[in-house]
Formats: sequence, structure tokens, C-alpha cells
Amino acid sequence: MARPKIALIGAGQIGGTLAHLAAIKELGDIVLFDIAEGVPQGKALDLAESGPVEGFDVSLKGTQDYADIAGADVCIVTAGVPRKPGMSRDDLLGINLKVMKAVGEGIKTHCPDAFVICITNPLDAMVWALQVFSGLPREKVCGMAGVLDSARFRHFLAEEFGVSMRDVTAFVLGGHGDTMVPLTRYSTVAGIPLPDLVEMGWTTQDKLDAIVQRTRDGGAEIVGLLKTGSAFYAPATSAIEMAEAYLKDQKRLLPCAAYVDSAFGLKGLYVGVPTIIGAGGVEKVIDIKLQKDEQAMFDKSVDAVKGLVEACKGIDESLA
Ligand code: APR
Repeated sequence: MARPKIALIGAGQIGGTLAHLAAIKELGDIVLFDIAEGVPQGKALDLAESGPVEGFDVSLKGTQDYADIAGADVCIVTAGVPRKPGMSRDDLLGINLKVMKAVGEGIKTHCPDAFVICITNPLDAMVWALQVFSGLPREKVCGMAGVLDSARFRHFLAEEFGVSMRDVTAFVLGGHGDTMVPLTRYSTVAGIPLPDLVEMGWTTQDKLDAIVQRTRDGGAEIVGLLKTGSAFYAPATSAIEMAEAYLKDQKRLLPCAAYVDSAFGLKGLYVGVPTIIGAGGVEKVIDIKLQKDEQAMFDKSVDAVKGLVEACKGIDESLA
């Protein structure tokens, strides 16, 4: 059986890391596409030369030609610009929307059967635009945010409780922005929900609130430290987890930016929700019952996403 083909649109910090992880995990043959001449070719060659040491059997190719992504099974999109210190994800809207148009057309023409994972920010609006521009089925186009935000939350919680992060589960819903909703009630240490851990005196509500806020600011914290770009290791790992779930039909229950058309009382919006990812793409959206305060946070986040989608429609008439 032929190896799966993975197209990575954008060969920058995240794109290069995606290629490295996909190669080490032998998920399939990899094509790195970028408009910057030489960059995808250089990264593909450098990574291929690590193959004899790592012992992976996949081919890597760098290109400026969309024809090379033909027939890709998975397509992960990071093309665009990342933020600089002081910028919010939303500041990237205008420039990255144009990039999504070009990328969407490339995908539509060359790999219409792919499972597409968008990482470009502002995430929820960009994945919406990418689905419209590409015309692919909605269950085959989703965005990576919830896995990353939940991983950040899990890391901070594991540090606070002094336990292995393997025993910490966390759920972050809503848009991938300042209004994201880390759900403490559905986050646990070895199955014990966080509110119970506060009651048991293992941590305090204040400390938990600070961790929730640090999770919301997780991306900005990295931008502030790096100064020249945004996070790339954890975003890449998170998208690879989603790609693997699709390629291996794992039926993973992962939070991601998916098209929601009745669950959570929503009508046709891309936003972070729990989903099942398998061979059918986003096979199901899990409609969690939210409590009043959680619903209020979720609604605020949904409003922020709706605002960005409206802004996109204002910039590009074909989206209206
Ligand atoms: N087509 C293909 N590639 C493009 C295009 C385009 N139209 N426009 C820009 N690119 C490429 C750039 O040449 C660059 O190599 O996208 C790449 C982006 O890489 P980085 O600048 O290193 O950004 P990265 O850190 O990988 O983040 C990419 O993901 O998390 C988000 O906010 C982040 O939107 C940003 C994206």
C-alpha cells in the first residue's frame, strides 16, 4: 500500500517542525510548500539528511508549485504571518485572509479529498474562510487550537500539583483567543475534577484562576519571550496528534475548531468544541451541557469569533 501523503502549506517555524514530527513518526511522505524560494527545499533536504540517523523511511520534498501537493491525504496550513510582541492574533486578520484565499484555491484544485487542518491565526476565522475558499466538505476542514490550549493548561496544572502531566486531563473550548474557555469542571487530575481538588485543599481557587488566565495568555507569553515570532513546538505537536487521529482512524476525542451547526445552540460557525476525529474527518461534535457561568464565557467567546468572521466578510466580498 502506498504511504499516505502529507502536504504542509507554509514551511516556516511550525511547518518545519510539523515536517520533522511527521517524518519521525513515519506518518507518510511529506511535501513542504512555501512561497519563500529555497526555504521548503532547504528544510526538506535538511530533514531528509536526518533520516539515516533517525531511521525513518519517508520522502521529503520542498516546493513552490501547488501541483506537488496533488492527491495529499492530509494538508496542514500554517501559511501566513505570525504575531510580534504587542500584537493580538486578530491583528493578523487582513493579511492572513488573503493567504487563505490562495491556499484554499490550491487545495481545491490539487487535493480536494484531503483532511485539512488550519493553524494560521486568527484561527477560528481563518479556518472558516479556508473552508469557504476551498469548498471542501466542512467535516474535512478544521482548525488546531483546543489541543494546544488544553496542553498548555495541562502543563501548568501538572506543575501546580506536582504530578505527571500524563495524569492531568484538561478541556479548553471556545475561540482561540483571549476569550477561550478553560473548563475547570471537565479538567481532572487522575479523574478528580479541579473544583474537588480545591475543596480537598490541594490548591486554592486563586491559584486555579491564575492558571486559567495563564492558559488564556499562553500564546502571548511565548511571543513575549521569543520576540521574533510565536510558539511552534507545541502547536506543531498538537496538529500532528489530529493528523494521526485521521490517518489511523483513531476516533480520538479532541477539542478542535470545527463547524458547529446545532450543537451548543450554534448555527453554522467554526469554534473550538469537543470532537471525534477519525477516518471521516471530524466525525462528531460532542454537545456538552454547560453551566450558566460556563455558557456565559462560551457565548462571549462565540461573539468574538462572529466579530472576526464579519470582519472577513467586510474585507473580501466573495465571503459575504
Ligand atoms: N503561501 C504559502 N506560504 C506562505 C504564504 C502563502 N501565500 N504567505 C506566507 N507564507 C509562508 C511564509 O513564507 C513563512 O515561511 O508562511 C510561513 C509562515 O511561517 P512563520 O513566519 O515561521 O510562522 P509560524 O510561526 O510557522 O506560524 C504560522 O501559525 O500559529 C500561527 O499565528 C501563527 O499565523 C501564524 C501561523
